[in-house]
This record gives sequence, C-alpha cells and structure tokens, in this order.
Amino acid sequence: MRWPFFSKLEIAIRSAKATDSDKIAELHREGGFFASWSAQEIESLMADRAVVTDTACDSRKSDQLYGFVMSRCAADEAEILTIAVQSKTRGKGIGRRLLEAHLPKLAQKGVKILYLEVEEDNRPARVLYERIGFATAGLRKAYYRKPDGSLANALIMKLDLDRL
Ligand SMILES: CC(C)(COP(=O)(O)OP(=O)(O)OC[C@H]1O[C@@H](n2cnc3c(N)ncnc32)[C@H](O)[C@@H]1OP(=O)(O)O)[C@@H](O)C(=O)NCCC(=O)NCCS
Repeated sequence: MRWPFFSKLEIAIRSAKATDSDKIAELHREGGFFASWSAQEIESLMADRAVVTDTACDSRKSDQLYGFVMSRCAADEAEILTIAVQSKTRGKGIGRRLLEAHLPKLAQKGVKILYLEVEEDNRPARVLYERIGFATAGLRKAYYRKPDGSLANALIMKLDLDRL
C-alpha cells in the first residue's frame, strides 16, 4: 500500500487531450484569473491548430493533472495565453518544468518571439518568467479590473526563443 502523503510527486509533461478540458477548466478556475474559462471554451481553444497546450501530470496516472500551459502561435510569434499550477502543488518546480518543455515545442513550430501579459503584482508568475529568461517589454496601466473593482497594471514580457 502506498501512503499518498508520503509518496513523492512524480511529474511528466505531456500534450493536452480533448478529454482534459474539465480538469484544465478546474485548474484555470483555481488560478484566480479575472475571468474563468469553461471546459467548452478550453475545448474550442485546443481544437485550434495554432494553439499549443501542455499539461503536467502524475507520471503514473496521466489523467491526474497538476498544471497546464497554453500558447497561441501566429507566424513566427506566439503568446502564452495562460499557465496555472494546482494551488497545493505550487512552488515545487512544476511551472518551470511546464515551460521548459513547452518552449522547445513552440520553437519547433517556427516561433522566434514569445510574449505574455502578467499582472504587475503577481510575484510568483513574474519570478517564474524571469528565471526562464523573459524580460519586461512594456507596461499597460490599469489594464485589469479585479473582482473588487480596483484596477491593476499589466506587464508585457518578451522572450527571444533563438537565444535559448
Ligand atoms: C505562476 C505559477 C504558474 C508558478 O508555478 P509554480 O509551479 O508554483 O512555479 P515553480 O515552482 O516552477 O517556481 C518557478 C520559480 O518561481 C519562484 N517562485 C514560485 N513561487 C514563488 C513565490 N510565491 N514567490 C517568489 N518566487 C516564487 C520559484 O522559487 C522558482 O524560482 P527558482 O527556479 O529560482 O527556484 C503558479 O504560481 C500559479 O499557478 N499561479 C496562479 C495562476 C497564475 O498567476 N498564472 C500566471 C498568469 S500570468
């Protein structure tokens, strides 16, 4: 018998499947974004050939998802649409592993420059992106409206995939 709280988290990164949409929607909701995406919205994004979605799953039970990342490509540029890791497994390197597997896939599709938007106060996300090599390329003031009605700035970050 394996005791779940003693067993080490063993993560594998794999492409998302249509059947992951409910779990991805749940991870997105848990991500605390300004607007949650439904499973149907996620399914239609995943059906778009320009969208690349990777998941972090349990290496022994690939239906158990711990995180995902989704990007949309357009010619030689792409944008990270979203990334989220299950709240109780954050800070264990899953976000980093997801991006380390995701970026080479984008490069293989011909992407040279990758952009993303992040709330200025989202420290965990900013540290993750900076560690990967993203640099701040712009600021959008009062860009997001929070659930309490206050406004938050967005940073635009950019990564040159040729330099990786
Ligand atoms: C942002 C997010 C995806 C990061 O995933 P994660 O698995 O927790 O990140 P990792 O454990 O891989 O950490 C990556 C780096 O960020 C650092 N980091 C993680 N959480 C941090 C925190 N709370 N404060 C400071 N640094 C932090 C880690 O130390 C690590 O740096 P290192 O490699 O130098 O040690 C996760 O926090 C999340 O899902 N947040 C909610 C959704 C969200 O905000 N998404 C981003 C939208 S732009």
